[in-house]
Amino acid sequence: MDKLIIRGGNRLSGTIPISGAKNAALTLIPCALLTDEPVTLRNLPRLADIDGFQHLMNQFGVNTAIQGTRPEDFGRTMRLEGTRITSTVAPYDLVRKMRASILVLGPMLARSGEATVSMPGGCAIGNRPIDLHLKALEAFGAEIELTQGYVKAIAPDGGLPGGDFDFPVVSVGATENALMAAVLANGTSRLTGAAREPEIVDLCNLLTAMGAEIEGIGTSDVTVHGVKRLNGATYKVMPDRIEAGSYACAAAITGGEVRLEGANAADMISTLSALRNIGLEIKEDAKGVNVAANGPLKPVDLTTAPFPGLATDMQAQLMSLLCKAEGTSVLKETIFENRFMHVPELTRMGADISTQGRTAVVKGPAQLTGAEVMATDLRASMSLIIAALAAEGETQVRRIYHLDRGYERLEEKLQLVGADIERVDD
Ligand code: UD1
Repeated sequence: MDKLIIRGGNRLSGTIPISGAKNAALTLIPCALLTDEPVTLRNLPRLADIDGFQHLMNQFGVNTAIQGTRPEDFGRTMRLEGTRITSTVAPYDLVRKMRASILVLGPMLARSGEATVSMPGGCAIGNRPIDLHLKALEAFGAEIELTQGYVKAIAPDGGLPGGDFDFPVVSVGATENALMAAVLANGTSRLTGAAREPEIVDLCNLLTAMGAEIEGIGTSDVTVHGVKRLNGATYKVMPDRIEAGSYACAAAITGGEVRLEGANAADMISTLSALRNIGLEIKEDAKGVNVAANGPLKPVDLTTAPFPGLATDMQAQLMSLLCKAEGTSVLKETIFENRFMHVPELTRMGADISTQGRTAVVKGPAQLTGAEVMATDLRASMSLIIAALAAEGETQVRRIYHLDRGYERLEEKLQLVGADIERVDD
C-alpha cells in the first residue's frame, strides 16, 4: 500500500488546477439510468470512486466509454449509454466500497419499476442512515423491502405516481435520490426541506438538459413535474468546491499564495468567508479564486451547516489551519457525529485540541512536528496533509486510499506549488 511523505516548511505559491467535483459526478453518473440515449459527462475527476461507479453502471448493462485516459489529462469525459437495463441489482461487492452507490436507487426505480441495492458502507464518519432516501421514495408511491442487507424498491404497475415529501433533516443524498426518482413519475412531486448544495443544482441542471421539468432549483422547496421520457445530454461537471477549499487551507497554513484555477467562488461562499475572517486575502474572478496569507492567522468560531452554511466537508481542513492561528478557535460539527477522528492524529503532531461531543476547541498557535499518522476518512486525511505542510520535519501519512477516493492527483497538484511531498510504496 502507498503512503505519502511530506517534509513541511515550504511556502506554497503558484496555480493549482481545480478538478470536477467528486460529489457532483457521483450523482450525475446515475442519471444515465434515466434514459436510453447517451449521457456524456465532461470534466469528470480521475478518482477511484468514479471508476467504482463506472463498474456499477456496467453491472446494470450501461455501456461506458472514457476519453482522456492519458496520464497528463486532467478531466475525463465519460459517455454512458443505457439502451437496455440488464440488471436492477447493485451487489454488495461494488456498493460496500462506495456509499454513494445508494444514488442508483431512485433513477433505477424510475426507469425499471424496481431496484435492489445493497446497504452502503463508505466513510466511517458516524452512523449514516438511509431512512430518508427510502421515506421519500415511499412518499412517491414505492414499496420498500429490506432483506438480507439489501433494499428493494418496487413501483406500482404503470410507474411511480409521485408525491410530496418534507425532509425532517437536510440530506444531500436523499434529495438527489428523490429528484432522480421524481423526474419520470406520472405526476407532480414536491420536496420541502430539500438540500440546496451546489451539487444538487448541478444535478437539476443536467436533469433539465435531459428534458426534466423542475421548479425551485437551488431552493429548499422544489417541485418536479414528471415527464414520460428523458433524452440524452452532454454536460460539464461543476468544479470541486471542497478540493478548492482544501488547497486554500494548504496554502494558508504555509503563509503562501495560490490561485485556484477554475474554482467557483459562489459555491464556496461560507468557506471563503471563514478564510477571510481568519485573515486571508481572497480575490475572486470568473475563472478562479486567489488566496494569499499576508499576515498572522486569526482564531475564529465556526459551525458546520447545510448549504449555504459552512460545509462539513471543510471542517477537518479548517481545523488544521486554525492550529496555527494566534488564539483559541471553536469548531462545532452539526451534520455528522463522530467527525473528529482527525483530532487524535493532529494531537500527535503537536496540535492542542480538545473535544466535547460535537465541539472542538483549538488552541493556537501550535508548534507542529512531523509524525507517522493514519488517515481515517477522506477529509480527515486531507487535514493531516495540511498540518504536515506546516510541520517541522517529516510526516508519513498511511492509508491514503481514502485520499485517492476524493483528490485527483493530490501530490502532483501540491508539487506544482512547491510542496515537498512524495508517494512511496510502503
Ligand atoms: C453528502 C456528501 C458528503 C457530505 C454530506 C453533507 C456525497 C457523495 N457525499 O453525503 O461528502 O459530507 O453530503 O454535506 O455527495 N441522514 C439521515 N437519514 C438519511 C440520510 C441522511 O438521518 O437517510 C442524516 C445523516 O446522518 C447526516 C445528515 O443527514 O447527519 C446529512 O447527511 P447527507 O446530507 O445525507 O450526507 P450524504 O448525502 O451521505
